[in-house]
Amino acid sequence: MNFDKKIILSRARNYIQRISKLSGEIIGNIPNLLHDNLPTQIIKGISLINTSQEFIYGKRGGIDDYLSQFKLEKESNQSFVLLIFSNLVIESLQVKRIPIGSNTYLIKIDVCGNGTLYFTEHKYDQRPEKDDEFYYSPDFDFKSLMAQIWNLYSGRIYVTLNSKDVQWNGGSWVGKPNFNTFHISNDPIYGSALDLFDKINEKNIRCRADGVSRSYLFFGPPGTGKSSFAQKLGGDKKIIKFDAKSFESISVESIKFLFSVLSPEFVIIDDIDKVFAASGEVATLLCILETIKLDFPQSTIIVTANSVDELDPAIFRAGRLDEPIKFAIQNAEDRREILTCYGKKLDIKISDEQIEKIISATEGLSAAYMKEIIIQMKYSSMEEVLNIIKTMKSLLKKKK
Ligand SMILES: Nc1ncnc2c1ncn2[C@@H]1O[C@H](COP(=O)(O)OP(=O)(O)OP(=O)(O)O)[C@@H](O)[C@H]1O
Ligand SMILES: [Mg+2]
Repeated sequence: MNFDKKIILSRARNYIQRISKLSGEIIGNIPNLLHDNLPTQIIKGISLINTSQEFIYGKRGGIDDYLSQFKLEKESNQSFVLLIFSNLVIESLQVKRIPIGSNTYLIKIDVCGNGTLYFTEHKYDQRPEKDDEFYYSPDFDFKSLMAQIWNLYSGRIYVTLNSKDVQWNGGSWVGKPNFNTFHISNDPIYGSALDLFDKINEKNIRCRADGVSRSYLFFGPPGTGKSSFAQKLGGDKKIIKFDAKSFESISVESIKFLFSVLSPEFVIIDDIDKVFAASGEVATLLCILETIKLDFPQSTIIVTANSVDELDPAIFRAGRLDEPIKFAIQNAEDRREILTCYGKKLDIKISDEQIEKIISATEGLSAAYMKEIIIQMKYSSMEEVLNIIKTMKSLLKKKK
């Protein structure tokens, strides 16, 4: 009861403050029907409507006025705001939009049992834009909200960058990250890669237990298993995957805040060579790698690349990327094992003689091709499969 009275009194005080601030403007805007000409009367009429709206809902200071009735903390972080407004998260929350002025909304989010968050939204050219600032009740339980977010994303958060949203802020290019979930393939690993996986996995578990930060560079030709390996190493842990392109324009501060609230256990940055070999813009990437390693040693980083030849060696210096692991094109023995195992898994009958024919025809093709070839074996004749292999190889040669 007492609490209600307090709120009513505080609201009344805010309204009185607004009345005293705006009454002068309202009076000045009332058209003088005897002396003003028609256009002036119309202009005054429109601004009177605007001013009255602002009177009701508050204007520029309206957000602060409105929020001053609550005891709130304030923080500024673009990535956090965008994460909360990502489809998966916002659809799961109870959202109330409070109009504050003609193009401004206050977005109130009550997170069940955790407290309240407030965001502000402005409409420019009909496009709603959220401010980077947000407000939260002092008892707000970020940890519990983040656990809820990880659940919504099934433990896999994929950060990409919408190139349309990248803007020059006077000193650097700043982009807005998008948040999605990503699928992890259940495909098994066969051949010698399996032994390598067990070795790295065991070592990584020991490093994590000792609090020793780990970062890996997986490099090698397409289809040799780098991404599958990285995702399998992450297992059912909380994984953030970044589109390497996002590192050109996400601010280090934004990343820091994201990591401090989300505490990912694995960080995967796929295909860095596709971005950084061409642009040479590695400064942000280097800074982020160092920041993650120093400030968030509990997060294991895995970076993948097809080729390191064109990359600035500063990227793979130990301390940024500790362990380089080379993924080679599968040799005959590995190809044989992959073919046989996939054949059994997919229940595709293939004779020893056919396997040997395929093995000798597929020199230079990676694991990814073996999976496709075994599928082809179900639907095509041996002769057709050998032709497909020939075409695959000719395409690869063309690329070189
Ligand atoms: N050792 C392996 N055993 C079985 N399947 C494998 C193995 N390595 C890769 N594959 C399969 O090959 C396909 C491609 O693998 P993956 O995406 O991990 O390759 P990549 O090295 O990341 O390629 P890219 O450089 O093009 O990104 C996947 O379907 C994966 O399951
Ligand atoms: Mg890959």
